[in-house]
Amino acid sequence: MKRTHACVDLRAEHIGQQVTLAGWAWRRRDHGGVIFIDLRDRSGITQIVFNPEGAEGHDAEMHGTHDEMHSIHERAHSIRNEFVLLIKGVVRRRPEGTENASLPTGQIEVLAHHLKILNESKPLPFLIDEGPEPSEALRLKHRYLDLRRPSIQKNLLIRNRVVSLVRNFLSKQNFIDIETPVLNKSTPEGARDYLVPSRVNPGHFYALPQSPQLFKQILMVAGFERYYQVVKCFRDEDLRADRQPEFTQIDLEMTFVDEEDVIELTSAMIRLVFKDVLGVEVGDIANLSYHEAIERFGTDKPDLRFGMELKDMADIVRESSFKVFLDALASGGVVKAICAPGIAGYSRKQMDDLTADAQSYGAKGLAWIKVKDAGFDSPIAKFFQAETLKAMAERLGASDGDIMLFVADKAGTTAETLGRLRVMLGQRLNLIPENEYCFTWVTGFPLLEWDEELGRYQAMHHPFTAPFEADIATLMSENAGDNLGSLRARSYDLVLNGCEIGGGSIRIHQKNLQQKMLKVLGIAEKEADAKFGFLLEALEYGAPPHGGLALGLDRLVMLMVGASSIRDVIAFPKTQKAVCPLTDAPSPVDAKQLRELRLKSE
Ligand code: AMO
Ligand code: AMP
Repeated sequence: MKRTHACVDLRAEHIGQQVTLAGWAWRRRDHGGVIFIDLRDRSGITQIVFNPEGAEGHDAEMHGTHDEMHSIHERAHSIRNEFVLLIKGVVRRRPEGTENASLPTGQIEVLAHHLKILNESKPLPFLIDEGPEPSEALRLKHRYLDLRRPSIQKNLLIRNRVVSLVRNFLSKQNFIDIETPVLNKSTPEGARDYLVPSRVNPGHFYALPQSPQLFKQILMVAGFERYYQVVKCFRDEDLRADRQPEFTQIDLEMTFVDEEDVIELTSAMIRLVFKDVLGVEVGDIANLSYHEAIERFGTDKPDLRFGMELKDMADIVRESSFKVFLDALASGGVVKAICAPGIAGYSRKQMDDLTADAQSYGAKGLAWIKVKDAGFDSPIAKFFQAETLKAMAERLGASDGDIMLFVADKAGTTAETLGRLRVMLGQRLNLIPENEYCFTWVTGFPLLEWDEELGRYQAMHHPFTAPFEADIATLMSENAGDNLGSLRARSYDLVLNGCEIGGGSIRIHQKNLQQKMLKVLGIAEKEADAKFGFLLEALEYGAPPHGGLALGLDRLVMLMVGASSIRDVIAFPKTQKAVCPLTDAPSPVDAKQLRELRLKSE
C-alpha cells in the first residue's frame, strides 16, 4: 500500500513517472465518460483521471490493458465524495487550457491504471468546504468530517507549529516542563470550578484546575527556577466567542525576576512565533498603563489597530446648560465622547438603535451631535453655544459627515459603554485593518477591584499577585480600608487586537503579606488555612521571589489564523452551552455510579 508521494508533491518534473497516492475523494466530475477525482490527503490535492480508453498513445505496459482500464473505469463510477482510495497511475501534463494555477499540482494530473477502494462513505450530512455553511451543531456532531476541511486542518497545523516553537524556545531558555495534577483542590481564578466527586472519600470533591497557579508557585519554592507547561485549564464560565470551558495555557513561572524579565521573555517568544509562523515582524511591544488604556480606549484590552479614542469633554460641556451632562459632573461622574466617522447620514431609527446599544452596555443614554458643513444637527444642540460645539468637534477631530457620541455617567460605566461602542462601530464601519497585529502590554493595574454584588474587594488578577513595593506598607497597615482601591498590582496583561491573550504577575512570596491579602479579600484566617494552608506553609520555608504568566494558546492561535471563533482552533470544542455534540457530553450516568459516589442514596 506504500504511497510514493503525498498529494501535494507532484509537479511537471514528475511527468511520465509511475506513482501511488492515497487519500479521500474530494470532488468528482464526470465529463462524458472521463471521470475526474480530486484526491485529497493532509498535504493537498492531486487530480486523478479515469479514462475508459486509457491515455492517448496508450502503452499497455505502463497503463494496463484496455480491459483493465475499462474495469477500473467501471469502479471509478461508483466513487462518491469521501471514499477512501488507493491509486496507481502515471503523471501526465494537463491538456492545455485545463491547468489550475491555484493548485501547486495544477500543472499535472495522474492517469489511473489501478484503483483500490479502501473504504466507502455514506452520503455526507453536509458538503465539506462547499455550499452553505452547515450549522455548528451539525459540524461538531460530525467533527471528523468538519475537521477534514483544509481550512480547519490548517488551523490545527499552525497550532501544532506554535506549540512546538514555544516548547523549543522555552527549553532553550532553560525552562523545564513539569506536569501538575488535574484532580485538585480548587484554585480561585475568579471563575466557577468543575468538581469531581471522590468515590473513596465520600462527600469530598476534587476541583479541576482553573490554572496551575499554586502548583507552579510551589515548584518555585521547590527550587526549579524555571517551569513551563502547555496545560489544560477548566473554568465553568459563561461561554463566548473567545472562551471555552476547557482551554490551554502556555503557563510559565520563574524565580528572582521582576516584571520586565517576564515581559521581555514573553515578548521574545511572541516575536519568534509570529516571525516563524506568519512571517510577521512584531518588533518592540509597547506598554500602556491601565489608567491610560481606560482613559483612551475605555477598556484594559484596547484594540490599537484604529483610532476613535475616547476624549474627556468635561471642561468643554461644563459651559453648557444640558442638564444630563451637568448632573453627571456634579455627582462625581464624567462626560466623554467618541467621534464616529462618516455616519451623519444615520436615520432617527439608526440613532435610536445606537442609543439602545449604549444602554445595553450600561449607560443610561447616548447623546449625539451630527457634524455637518452647514452646522450641528442634534436634539441637544440647543443647549450649547456655537463656540462650545466647535470646541467639541475640534477635540474629537470631527468634521463634516461625522457624529459625536457622548456618554455622561460614572467613570466606569462611561468607559465601558464608549469602549464597546468604539469597537462595535470600528467593526461596522470597517475601520479595523485585517492582517495587522497590534500588541500591547498593559501594566499598573489596580490590585483590588470593588465588587458591588459581593460588597467587598476582589483581586483584579488573582490573590497571589504582589502589590507595588511602595504600596505594601499601606496594605499591611491596620486601617488599610480606605486606601485599598488605590493599591497597584505588579501584574501585566498581553493584549493583541483587543483580545487579552495572556496575563501574569510577580507573586507574593512572604507569608504575612499573603495572609493580609487574603484577609482583605474577606477570607477569614480559618478559611485561609483550610483553603491555602499548604501555600502559606510553603512560603515559610525559604520561598524565593518569583513571578510568571500564562498565555491563552487557543486565543493566540485564533488571532494568528484569523478565526472568528475559538472553536475553529480546537479539535473537539464545546458549544456555547458547554456541550460536545460529537460525544454528547455531558450526559446522565448510571444510578449505580451515582450511588458509588454517594451522590444518590439507595
Ligand atoms: P488568566 O486567568 O489571566 O491567568 O488566564 C491566562 C490566559 O488564559 C486565557 N483564558 C482563556 N482562554 C479561553 N477560554 C477561557 N475560558 C479562558 N480563560 C482564560 C486568556 C488569559 O489571558 N494563573 C494565571 C496566570 C499567571 O498569573 O501566571 C491565569 O490563569 O488568554
Ligand atoms: P433626556 O433629557 O433624558 O430626554 O435625554 C436627552 C438626550 O440625552 C437623549 O438623547 C438621551 O439619550 C441622552 N442621554 C440621557 N442620559 C444620558 C447619559 N447618561 N449620557 C449621555 N446621554 C444621555
